[in-house]
Amino acid sequence: MPARHSTLQIVLHWTMAAVIAAAWLLGSLLEDLARGPDRAAGLGVHVLLGLGVLALLLPRLIARLAGPTLPPEPGETRWEHRLAAAAHLALYALMLLVPLAGLATALSARAPVPVLGLFDLPNPLAGLGQRKLFEGAHELLANLLLGVVVLHVLATLYHAVIRRDGVAGRMIPWLHQP
Ligand code: HEM
Ligand code: HEM
Repeated sequence: MPARHSTLQIVLHWTMAAVIAAAWLLGSLLEDLARGPDRAAGLGVHVLLGLGVLALLLPRLIARLAGPTLPPEPGETRWEHRLAAAAHLALYALMLLVPLAGLATALSARAPVPVLGLFDLPNPLAGLGQRKLFEGAHELLANLLLGVVVLHVLATLYHAVIRRDGVAGRMIPWLHQP
């Protein structure tokens, strides 16, 4: 039975974790920036990072479905296993919903959003007049994602430090116990 995730899953997990962290930090910084060229550039990078998350999600789901389904660790209760599965499901759902709400926010801006001179995001949803609603949903979902990630990291620490089982090593190669 394989005791770790596939290499492709591990690479996608850590690439997406880094991109999501950068998107989250930049998004939070944007909140406090006054309109101007710095804000426009920051928003452009934020949009590219966020669209990157969206683009990597499908390959990730395919890698997940094609890769090994790991058995519960010895000593893990049914409830612990269910809780972990629910948290992972929530993370996958939020990795979809956060960028989609961001995209809806950008597509409902008053004017097209320029992305670093590379392209302009059009604003076909401007007529709905719901930009504030989408922005609120994007912020709420992004904060929820942060919250679940914090719990996820605490769970990893619990496995690595207290339980000392093989769970952390399934995704963190240098902790892997053969
Ligand atoms: C995982 C991906 C993403 C994360 C973690 C994220 C996170 C955030 C955060 C924390 C904010 C600040 C919340 C606020 O106060 O409004 C924000 C704002 C924003 N994000 Fe994202 N975002 C992501 C993806 C995207 C995508 C894909 C788009 C568009 C294509 C986008 C467009 C925006 C826009 C337009 C704002 C509002 C900026 C403003 O005008 O204040 N985001 N994002
Ligand atoms: C934005 C940040 C992150 C997201 C969205 C995320 C998401 C996920 C998801 C969805 C899984 C389940 C993989 C599967 O389907 O089997 C997973 C597994 C895992 N993640 Fe993360 N993760 C993030 C950050 C982190 C960080 C910072 C750590 C460690 C400090 C970590 C440690 C792990 C470990 C150890 C597993 C394997 C759990 C197992 O095999 O049961 N993750 N992560």
